[in-house]
Amino acid sequence: KQTLQDVTLTGKRVFVRVDFNVPMKDGVITDETRIKAALPTIQHLVKQGAKVILASHLGRPKGQAVEELRLKPVAVRLSELLDQPVAASTEARGEVAETAVSELKDGDILLLENVRFYAGEEKNDAELAKEFAALADFYVNDAFGAAHRAHASTEGIAKHLPSAAGFLMEKELDVLGQALTEPKRPFTAIIGGAKVKDKIGVIDHLLDKVDNLIIGGGLAYTFVKALGHEVGKSLLEEDKIELAKSFMEKAKKNGVNFYMPEDVIVSDDFSNDANTNIVPISEIPADWEALDIGPKTQDTYKSVVADSALVIWNGPMGVFELETFAGGTKAVAEALANSTETYSVIGGGDSAAAVEMFGLADKMSHISTGGGASLEFMEGKDLPGVVALSDKE
Ligand code: 3PG
Repeated sequence: KQTLQDVTLTGKRVFVRVDFNVPMKDGVITDETRIKAALPTIQHLVKQGAKVILASHLGRPKGQAVEELRLKPVAVRLSELLDQPVAASTEARGEVAETAVSELKDGDILLLENVRFYAGEEKNDAELAKEFAALADFYVNDAFGAAHRAHASTEGIAKHLPSAAGFLMEKELDVLGQALTEPKRPFTAIIGGAKVKDKIGVIDHLLDKVDNLIIGGGLAYTFVKALGHEVGKSLLEEDKIELAKSFMEKAKKNGVNFYMPEDVIVSDDFSNDANTNIVPISEIPADWEALDIGPKTQDTYKSVVADSALVIWNGPMGVFELETFAGGTKAVAEALANSTETYSVIGGGDSAAAVEMFGLADKMSHISTGGGASLEFMEGKDLPGVVALSDKE
């Protein structure tokens, strides 16, 4: 794949798809990780004297302009971070966008409006893709977080312009790609989160790669049930019990050490001040629900992490948003932070949010900026936004 290092873009209009889909509360950005992650590419282009046209989606406005989902606050923050003006257009297509682009001088930056204000974006509409392309001479995709979407600004546009991956995109693909193709061993995957349904592909794929697979979170209780235990009111996907069994068999067949909770924290209510108890997985009371892994399980998971050369983590071990049930997720995060010899890759989304919440983000080797994208990558799927770039090799 062509990267930014391979091209000179001085004086060129460069359409850069970034993922500025950042959480916002009352117009204030609450986590600017994704903005900071895009800076190397933007700074490089500015330094080269390109005319930098940034485009992103924000939220899910479903094809129409939604005031709270305008990108203006991001332009303001970006400008502060770069210490350089960043113009903000109120459109990403049509005359307004064209005029804004035509006013750019070499080294200037423009942020187009939310590309999802147009219905054609998510439909990967060919006309919209052409319109985006007509704004520029070159296309850079640095939006790893949106690379699993075949949309007009991530996939369609690449058909009409010479293109390259941005530095963030390149780094994400390198780290995740290397983990899956030439992993340091022992290689451990920690898979948590609420539902088996969302992790089928990733568990299946990783069972062909890893030495250890650790299971936690709400999805673990379908595995507990598959072992023949009752799970009380814990999350359970009845229709995935057989699948859970087949995963345990696959682990055995592949010689993968399969770790499940030995003990759990059960609760009589989904709240911080519920009554709780620690029980072995064979003794979950009928009226209670398990909301976190127990201390014995924490110890086992911590020691597996400490003995691993590479760990990929996707999905929390319990309901970490509630302090009472954050212990398991925190234990795993701390184990990763303390295991300085272990290369730790954190899938985006909830695990990244957890690591951030515990103040351990800077102790991790790599935190992916893509939740859905890193998950699909770890499932072994091609990402349309990346494939589109390789087409132009
Ligand atoms: C994300 O936040 O995971 C990406 O920005 C993709 O957003 P989407 O799930 O709305 O496509």
